[in-house]
Parts: sequence; C-alpha cells; structure tokens
Amino acid sequence: MSDSTVTIFFEGRAVAARAGTSVAAALWEHGVAALSHSPKYGRPRGVKCARGHCMNCLMRIDGVPNVRACLTQVADGMRVGRQDSGAPYGAPMQKVLDKGGHLFPVGFYYKWFTKPSALSRMFMSGLRPLTGVGRLPEPAAWADHGDTPPARDLGHIETLVIGAGIAGMGEALAADGEVMLVDDSLRCGGQRRAAFDLVTESAADVLNGLEHLAALRARLENLAARVEAEPRIEVRTGTTVVGAWQPDMLLLEDSEGLAVVRARHICWAAGALDAAPLFDDNDRPGLIGPRALYRLLARDGLDLAGRATLVAGRGFDAVLSAALLHTAGAKVTVALEPGRTGDPALLATANRLGWSLHTGQTIAAAHAQNDRLASVSLASTDGGTTEVPCDLAVIATRAKPAYDLAYQLGVDLVLDPERGGYVPRGADLGRLETTTPAGVGLIVAGEAAGLSPEALLQEVSA
Ligand code: FES
Repeated sequence: MSDSTVTIFFEGRAVAARAGTSVAAALWEHGVAALSHSPKYGRPRGVKCARGHCMNCLMRIDGVPNVRACLTQVADGMRVGRQDSGAPYGAPMQKVLDKGGHLFPVGFYYKWFTKPSALSRMFMSGLRPLTGVGRLPEPAAWADHGDTPPARDLGHIETLVIGAGIAGMGEALAADGEVMLVDDSLRCGGQRRAAFDLVTESAADVLNGLEHLAALRARLENLAARVEAEPRIEVRTGTTVVGAWQPDMLLLEDSEGLAVVRARHICWAAGALDAAPLFDDNDRPGLIGPRALYRLLARDGLDLAGRATLVAGRGFDAVLSAALLHTAGAKVTVALEPGRTGDPALLATANRLGWSLHTGQTIAAAHAQNDRLASVSLASTDGGTTEVPCDLAVIATRAKPAYDLAYQLGVDLVLDPERGGYVPRGADLGRLETTTPAGVGLIVAGEAAGLSPEALLQEVSA
C-alpha cells in the first residue's frame, strides 16, 4: 500500500486517503460507515462483501450514480456522496406507499411517460432520487465514458477453472489438456493467501502454535507454486467472470476491458459468500464476514490500529481473522460458539497475544451509534449476556456457497440443506459434475460445493 495520500471530497468535506485504497475503506477510517440506505426501510448499509457482490456500497462518485465504493480506488479530487438520504423513505415513505401504492401499477416506472424522450427524462430525474438509485449521471460523466471497446475473443479452451483457491488450483492441476485459471485476486491462492501473507510478514509470529492454520497456508503455497510452474495452465488473475454471455460463452473483465471465452469443461470453484446468522440488528454497518475482512486489510490496507474488534464464530476463518486483526494492530476479542471451546493451541495463542477470549458464546444483538457499530451483545447457553464494545465485528459462520454461474448456464439446481447451498439436480454429491443444456461439462468444487475450508484441506491433503 502506498504511503502517499490523496484528497477526496465526501459530500463536500475534504477527506485525506491513502493512495490505492478503496473509497469504502477511506470513508470507514474517517468515521463514515453508512454508505447507503436500504430502499424499503431506509436502514443504513455499510461495506459488506468488499467484492462487488452486494448493493450496500453503491454511491455517487464523480457525478456517476451506482458506483461500487468497495471496488473504486480513491483519486485526488474525487467527489463522493451517498445517493440517497435515507430519511425520505423508511417509516414516512412506508405510510405513503401503504395508502397510495395501488396508484402505482407494477413496472409503472418504465411504462409511464416514455414519450417524448424529454418527458421521460424529466420523469426519471424526479423519480430516481425517491427510490434510492441516485440521480441520473451528470452530462459530463456521460461524455467521459466514451464508447466501450468490443470484447476481445479469447477463443475456445479445453477447461476453464473459475476461482484459484485451494479447490480451483487442485482442479486445474488435475484437469487434462490446456487450462485457463481465472480469479479476481491478484495472485493464485485467493483472498486467504493474501491474508496469510500479511499475518506471516508481521513480527508478532502469530501463527506460531496454530498448526491447522500453518497447514492451510502451506497447502496454499504448495498448490500455487505447482500451478505457476505448470506450462499447460494459463493463469489470469485480476480477472472477474461477469457471467454467462451465451449458453456456452462466458464474459470476463480484466484491466484491459471485456473478453469472451468458450470452454468444453468449466470448473466452478468460486468459493462462498459471507453470511450473517440471525440476531437483532444483524445488518448494522461494521458487521462483516471474514472474506470481506481479508480484502479490506490485504487489498485496501484498512487502518485498524487501536480499534476494538470482535471475531465471533468458529473454524479456520475465525482464527485467521483474529490473527489478521492482531497483525493490523487492533484490539482483539474472540467469541467462540457453544461447543467450540477452543483447542489448547488457540487458548495459548490468545493468552500470548493478549486476546480476550469468550467460549460458548453467540451474538445476540448488535448496537449502533450514529449508524456505526458500537457494541455487540454475546449470549451464553446459561442465559447470561456480555456486552463487548467494538468498532468492527467479524462473523465467521457457515458461508453461503456461490452458485451464480451454474444458475446462469441453465443448470437445474436444487437446495441441499446438508451443504447449505444449491447443487446440480441429480449430480453425484461426492463430485458435483453435470452437463449444461448447451453441452458444456460443469464441475462445482470446493466451498462453492458446500465444503468448509477444514473439509477442503482434509480432502486435498488425503
Ligand atoms: S459490493 Fe461493495 S460492499 Fe458489497
């Protein structure tokens, strides 16, 4: 992360930001946690996935509405603002809609006043701010946008593997023939590898004694080295799969723009999405999952020095999150779920590093002040509660397997409660393999197939 700073303007206020960080991280460091509001109830929304997977961070940036603040790097003179005020909707707007909703038929916003175009533009200009999707772009912003160049054609390949974490790298090595391996991270190994790098570079020797984490890191490094040395695997990092463009064609985006590619076989190993369990006010800005934390620290260099933080949950990601927060200079409290008393190595590490450790506790409620997380209530099985003040809480529970691409390719998916996600109907549940309606072979692997990181590590180590 660069040491130089730039100045952005948040709703007219000058804010200093490290060059290279994201708008969302820069605002959070300056006390702005609420980036938008929910359209229906006007609830404040903060950075959640830090990956472009949700709508929480849609802001107006340099006159353009609906720009993702978590994916946009700060630039000198950049103008940033919330595109909704929150206040016009929420309870007052609900009352209006309750009384007058029948006057607005479904789809009225694109059926009414479509001609002449000047009237349509006036209608949309008035309606958009009320709905929370922002005002239309400034004319200058349109002009800057220019023409989008046509997508490059990357041709046909034998196997396309999407996701370069443990599962994706394993599948790429196991596949026959030419393989293209794509990931939106900047290196093979995904977001956890970048998090491990930060932890191991620190002087605190945080991983000392945490053998399961050390084993996961070793596995990632080993796989990444083998993938990078394998000439038949073309690695494309910094590349996002936008979606299925045609039934057998995928649209990719990288630093050069858009590209299309076709493959005979696709392996979907895109991992899982952070999910929050149910508790009061579980949508407060400042509550995030471990994957978002990895990106905010490893990619954006979020400054957490001296901040009070909490990690709640279980498993690899809870411990890695605590290690990462410690490395970043935060004060760390760890709350392990009931039944997860913590192994002796974790207890010893928590003692050595000065973490406050609560066992047998789950989050019962979050509390906010000025739209920003202030504390979290922990509940124990005996009915007791403990309030933990914190600026940021990381919830590491069962994640939601990503199934987007399989769905877009037309695969018939069914919910598998055991895995906590959708799987191709009729596929062998040991290896989720199927064929799309367009005849493309599809394998769903790793956390996208519902495996936990622990199970994945065992599987690939076997
Ligand atoms: S898309 Fe930015 S926080 Fe989810």
